[in-house]
Amino acid sequence: MTDVRFPDGFVWGAATAAYQIEGSPLADGAGPSIWHRFSHTPGRMTNGDTGDVACDHYHRYAEDVAIMRDLGLQAYRFSISWSRILPEGTGRVNQKGLDFYRRLVDALRDAGIRPMATLYHWDLPAALDDRGGWLNRDVADWFADYATIAYQTLDDTVEWWATLNEPWVVTDGGYLHGALAPGHRNLFETPIASHNLLRAHGRAVQAYRAANGKHTIGIVVNIEPKYPHSESEEDLAATRRADAYMNRQYLDPVFRGAYPAEMPDLFGEAWPDFPAADFDLIKQPIDFVGINYYLRAVTKNDPAQVIERAARVRQPQSIYTETGWEVHAPALTDVLLWFRDRYGATPIYVTENGAAFYDPPTAIDDTINDPLRVHYLRQHLSAVAKAIEQGADVRGYFVWSLLDNLEWSLGYTKRFGIIHVDFATLKRTLKESAKFYREVVRVGAVPEISGGQNKREFFELAEQLAQSSSASEQKRLKELLARMTFGE
Ligand code: BGC
Repeated sequence: MTDVRFPDGFVWGAATAAYQIEGSPLADGAGPSIWHRFSHTPGRMTNGDTGDVACDHYHRYAEDVAIMRDLGLQAYRFSISWSRILPEGTGRVNQKGLDFYRRLVDALRDAGIRPMATLYHWDLPAALDDRGGWLNRDVADWFADYATIAYQTLDDTVEWWATLNEPWVVTDGGYLHGALAPGHRNLFETPIASHNLLRAHGRAVQAYRAANGKHTIGIVVNIEPKYPHSESEEDLAATRRADAYMNRQYLDPVFRGAYPAEMPDLFGEAWPDFPAADFDLIKQPIDFVGINYYLRAVTKNDPAQVIERAARVRQPQSIYTETGWEVHAPALTDVLLWFRDRYGATPIYVTENGAAFYDPPTAIDDTINDPLRVHYLRQHLSAVAKAIEQGADVRGYFVWSLLDNLEWSLGYTKRFGIIHVDFATLKRTLKESAKFYREVVRVGAVPEISGGQNKREFFELAEQLAQSSSASEQKRLKELLARMTFGE
């Protein structure tokens, strides 16, 4: 087996988000966010989980930075909670909230870890939601004012600023299907929220240039490449619709200054007429793009589905993670090459990639064996290397996630971390995947591995894991094996 080497200077990191790990959401004068409100609304969260404690990173950040240093991480992507800094979203600044991020960023700098800060990872101040939130055009200015405070305080150390994390998920989950905060279900609101997110992105980039920002700024999107289930005209058209809605809806305005031609057809009478000048604002030159990749979608025509009129087809030859997502590493190579071909030379960071596989709630003997996650990472890192070989300008990779954390409305039931968190004691334990990643970072290479049909490999690993586990864990692992065949 040969090693796949990454270019010199390739940046190795891990990612998290504020509400998913920090805990103490109202500490030191912070205001509530829409996620605080949503998670405290009965019926919204699996098991009634909330971010009140989460990983208690707010108090344990120094321990977490020490772990990152031990892993040899070169970069760390975290997000800033807007309502810690501006409890009402605008106006009065809460110095203690700013101080937390100052302490975090200083600790990272002292550990030689380069910070990437996301300004919006889904936790809008609740006070702004009361004023219409992402549906109010003023939100673009509110966001730029907040961003400016963050730049003034932290730009000396933060090397990469990401304006938004995954605007598609914000609107599809938060405004169309209601599974994420603020929990609306409204077709007409959805394109308005998307558009204001993009305007806010543009205003925050302008504000960075106006503040003479000395580092870099970009946007993070999730890309789920769409492949047709068949060559029929219906499936091909459905694939184009799904791709326009989920992928091009955000990147086209940012890089090309216009929505994809499909959009009015997708939204019908819910598609508004947007002022032409908005597109000059949205299309600010940016320094990098962050791509989050989790899964692909094999797509078929399905008139019953709202907007895309398309559905995903389960793949019997594939295995599925705990979130029901198909594992398919070759599509990551495709995504990175597609970005270069469609949008040109902007540097790319893979800002999230990772998998939820079952791990036990408590680490016995200070170890967590997670061979499935190791296998997943090997395949996906090989896929990134392949894209670089073929000319994609990928500058770094951030595994999702540093820590097991609050998986939004699914609560603490899905573990994505390379570091295990025991949510009863908050003890951190390195998983085998963290040790594997430490070695990858150390040598700057990954053992080559096929990214093709991999069901058997995952199954063998899961079976070995079940055999080596305690009797009570074996039951869980059998359930895991059953879920992995979700595609059948
Ligand atoms: C988000 C993360 C989330 C992860 C796994 C991404 O959509 O940015 O916050 O935990 O996927 O679902």
